[in-house]
Amino acid sequence: MSTQELRSFIRDLPKAELHLHIEGTLEAEMIFALAERNKVQLPYANIESLKQAYQFTDLQSFLDLYYAGAAVLQTEQDFHDMTWAYLQRAAADGVVHAEIMFDPQTHTSRGVSIETVFDGLASALRQGQKELGISSSLILSFLRHLSEADAFATLEQALPLRRQYEDLWLSVGLDSSENGNPPEKFRKVFAHCKELGFRRVAHAGEEGPAAYVRDALDLLHAERIDHGVRSEEDPLLMQRLQEEQISLTVCPQSNLKLCVVSDMKQHNLKRMLEQGLCVTVNSDDPAYFGAYLLDNYMAVAEALDLSRSQLVQLAQNSMDARF
Ligand code: ADE
Ligand code: ZN
Repeated sequence: MSTQELRSFIRDLPKAELHLHIEGTLEAEMIFALAERNKVQLPYANIESLKQAYQFTDLQSFLDLYYAGAAVLQTEQDFHDMTWAYLQRAAADGVVHAEIMFDPQTHTSRGVSIETVFDGLASALRQGQKELGISSSLILSFLRHLSEADAFATLEQALPLRRQYEDLWLSVGLDSSENGNPPEKFRKVFAHCKELGFRRVAHAGEEGPAAYVRDALDLLHAERIDHGVRSEEDPLLMQRLQEEQISLTVCPQSNLKLCVVSDMKQHNLKRMLEQGLCVTVNSDDPAYFGAYLLDNYMAVAEALDLSRSQLVQLAQNSMDARF
């Protein structure tokens, strides 16, 4: 199959995107446009010099830029425009369903109201359902470098909006700096979210150890694991993930750009797939890692020499793992 044939084969598979941070879809061009619209001063002379800074050595070196970039988001229109731009790219890649993470604390800590965030995201997602045929939902994600009390306070701010967004806000998640911020730190807030009927996901086993994956399952009652690539270090955990068919939302290009793997040919996605785990392919923060969903599939298809049936399986897994 030529590269072009492979690309259209993958594009035509119905796919769900299950691990995407909407703030990670802010392209450098849009960061500059919003900075100008909102009169925000950026510490970069131009788009090119911002893009040149996208050379990451680990998760934290990325997060520092990602949070700085998100500071240009101020109005409902900004959140709408960012989300709409993502949905158009997703539609072109053959995404039919997206479960989208957002980090309210990144915005409320700058004085942006949580209503502004929800209103902008939701209007774009509803438009995406009508005009692009992409079904979607929202995963309100807690920042794990902040305290559990801060997560509770964020939940309290968001809960009055639940009725208004009950068609979209189905889930909670946990993201940001993993090492040193173990799942147990958020045990109580996740228990409360479970009682309230929210679906639950958590980043684990990206940079952190396999034990964080186990603890995300046991202590947070996470139903899907974001990343989870370090699970391989624990054979018992691997057996459990296989037996219970717990989905892992793997992000190959993110793993490469954040030095979780040194070479795409070394990525364990294919090994995990062949061991019968429910692995999926996702884009994480596509504007920063230079790859939306189709490019992530292409990268692993080529580097790992995936068969057509393995590509179909990955797409099917993503549809099966939807909430
Ligand atoms: N927030 C955005 N992208 C992330 C990632 N890859 N890991 C943890 N937190 C994140
Ligand atoms: Zn992520």
